[in-house]
Amino acid sequence: MNPYQPYPDRYADTAIYRRCGKSGVLLPRISLGLWKNFGAENHYETARTMVCMAFDQGITHFDLANNYGPPYGSAETTFGRILREDLRSWRDELFVSTKAGYDMWPGPYGNWGSRKYLMASLDQSLERMGLDYVDLFYIHRYDPLTPLDETLMALVDIVRRGKALYVGISRWPLEAFSYGIDFLKARDVPCLIYQGRLNLLDREPVNQGILSKAEESGVGFIGFSPLAQGLLTDRYLDGTIPKGSRMSLGGTLRPSVLTPEMLAKLHALEVLARERGEKLSQMALSWVMQHQAVTSAIVGVSSVHQLQEAVKVLHAPIPFNKTELQLIDDICLYSNEDKP
Ligand SMILES: NC(=O)c1ccc[n+]([C@@H]2O[C@H](COP(=O)([O-])OP(=O)(O)OC[C@H]3O[C@@H](n4cnc5c(N)ncnc54)[C@H](OP(=O)(O)O)[C@@H]3O)[C@@H](O)[C@H]2O)c1
Repeated sequence: MNPYQPYPDRYADTAIYRRCGKSGVLLPRISLGLWKNFGAENHYETARTMVCMAFDQGITHFDLANNYGPPYGSAETTFGRILREDLRSWRDELFVSTKAGYDMWPGPYGNWGSRKYLMASLDQSLERMGLDYVDLFYIHRYDPLTPLDETLMALVDIVRRGKALYVGISRWPLEAFSYGIDFLKARDVPCLIYQGRLNLLDREPVNQGILSKAEESGVGFIGFSPLAQGLLTDRYLDGTIPKGSRMSLGGTLRPSVLTPEMLAKLHALEVLARERGEKLSQMALSWVMQHQAVTSAIVGVSSVHQLQEAVKVLHAPIPFNKTELQLIDDICLYSNEDKP
């Protein structure tokens, strides 16, 4: 294996960075997520190439969580190996996030939002990645049973102990998010960013006021699954499920979403994308990025080719005109059954 040397001009395009809320942090408008495709069951060399290629293109932000893999924890282990073998010298150029909130280990302390779980989980994540600290630690989801103050105070203490530089909130309802913003601010550990699902077919953070709350509070917003896990690409356009695709593997992207109505929407969107001179996946990414309050879109990729398509949008997004945005809205008017 040749030693990795990053591309010297990786920061030539300064337009790809956006300020995260009212913080001092700049994030690339497209970040790389390691939820799928970076686990122990995936090909290590491909994972390594994708991470290094992203870094070469100025993508400094890598998004992980304790349970990314499969199996759980193995995406962090893979990333740790890439850090150790290739990116060690560039640690200060990287913005690494991880999370805890979903089931991670058996028993009553390996899930949800208790202080006990969050503290232990972050220690395990740091060990897997071989890091002293992460740049950003998230509570991964809303826990209706643990008092919000307990979860939020754990985030504060994580920063105070130097295990994370910033904290963020993922998938909390608006009311809890608002409470969290105030709680953290009062303790001088402001919420850096909110992470929520945002794509052409699922606009919950917009519709529920999360995006506007983040913007008015000086908190960044990062959108996950901008391609609706691959639905908003040419992967399933002909109505079949390619071998090896996320939908074929079972789990989070169910074949039942591929209804005639959904296919009609995808085809109409693809025609518009073609008229704009891009692929459906590229238009879908651009659409997330064009929101004023969106700091970054976290894309997932299973191949170098997919990453290259995203990188084109990062460096040369095609702006939308009002007619195109209206047409997209008309096509995408969605019902709950359509959500991937
Ligand atoms: N906070 C949370 O609760 C939460 C939840 C979900 C995700 N996330 C974060 O968001 C990240 C992204 O989520 P995601 O993986 O669902 O994102 P996504 O970008 O919506 O979907 C990624 C999938 O789309 C397909 N794809 C990507 N580019 C393509 C292209 N050019 N042509 C055809 N297919 C393409 C690939 O599917 P194939 O594998 O079929 O090739 C890829 O695995 C995650 O890694 C994670 O960091 C966070």
